[in-house]
Amino acid sequence: MSGAPWVLRSLLFVPGNRPDMIAKAGRYGADALILDLEDGVAPDEKARARQVVAGALDAGVPGSPIVFLRVNGSGSGLLAWDLREAFRPGAAALCLPKCETPEAVLTLDASLQALESQHRLPRGGIRILPMIESARGVVQAAAIAGSHARVCGLAFGAEDYTADLGVARTRQGAELAYPRAAVSVAARAAGVDAVDGIYADFRDADGLRADTGAARALGYTGKMLIHPAQVAPVHAAFAPEAAEVEQARRIVAAFEAAEARGSGIVVVDGAMVDRPVVLRARRTLAIASRPAAGRERD
Ligand code: COA
Ligand code: MG
Repeated sequence: MSGAPWVLRSLLFVPGNRPDMIAKAGRYGADALILDLEDGVAPDEKARARQVVAGALDAGVPGSPIVFLRVNGSGSGLLAWDLREAFRPGAAALCLPKCETPEAVLTLDASLQALESQHRLPRGGIRILPMIESARGVVQAAAIAGSHARVCGLAFGAEDYTADLGVARTRQGAELAYPRAAVSVAARAAGVDAVDGIYADFRDADGLRADTGAARALGYTGKMLIHPAQVAPVHAAFAPEAAEVEQARRIVAAFEAAEARGSGIVVVDGAMVDRPVVLRARRTLAIASRPAAGRERD
């Protein structure tokens, strides 16, 4: 993610009350895990989930993946308890669900400052990934993305968003066209990355690839997952096609040669290439050469 020390295409949810799943989750090649205390855990399991998550973070999650912790939202009455009982230094970031205001981020920042001094962690190191999953959240998305330097991205949650609006979640997804694009634009405007929400039908790899491709076309660079089988299709959907990479190389080379001759415009494959085209090509090359799963940025 921009501004963050990692590159994340896939963020796999693991229910916080499933030590068996947490123990094996680092094997599946996801770029990050999200240990969940929120909607993946039933109310009467929350207390146990906090203990399981704290124990896993204390012991170190096998495979040393990047670990996010999804706490319960600001309005839940559970957030302070989650932070106190479940947070441990092994968590790199907090996923803040149902985020609707910049103040929710600032309040969480204050709690994180306290946790950082308690655990002797570098100040400001714990990142925040707000989830935008309501009409209010969409309207406030730009303010939320720009609210604090801890914010490493915005995640769009279509399931809760459609529930909030009281509309059906259709396969075509017309109801998501606006909010999904709005969250991506808000993230970009703040210089952070956009992470798309889950694709629930975890046996449908073709549908997942198409859904991820649609998100990528809107500017999303990562996706939340619920099942290990979703890792490979999502990585494939975010990888530029070989032909795209080849064309990007030709564009950059031709442009640099033209620039060296003092010209700002060049024609490649019959189409004009100017600065924005070169910027897109350079971005394609950067994505194509980025480090493998979970590896830190230089
Ligand atoms: N994280 C880690 N491991 C997972 C996993 C996950 N999210 N989902 C499945 N696995 C593991 C299973 O434990 C199983 O491991 P094993 O073969 O070593 O026993 C393996 O992957 C295959 O699982 P499978 O049998 O295909 O799925 P399932 O029927 O056991 O579980 C779900 C299906 C949807 C219940 C499960 O994937 C899940 O709980 N996902 C997370 C849901 C969630 O967090 N929702 C809230 C956020 S939206
Ligand atoms: Mg949600």
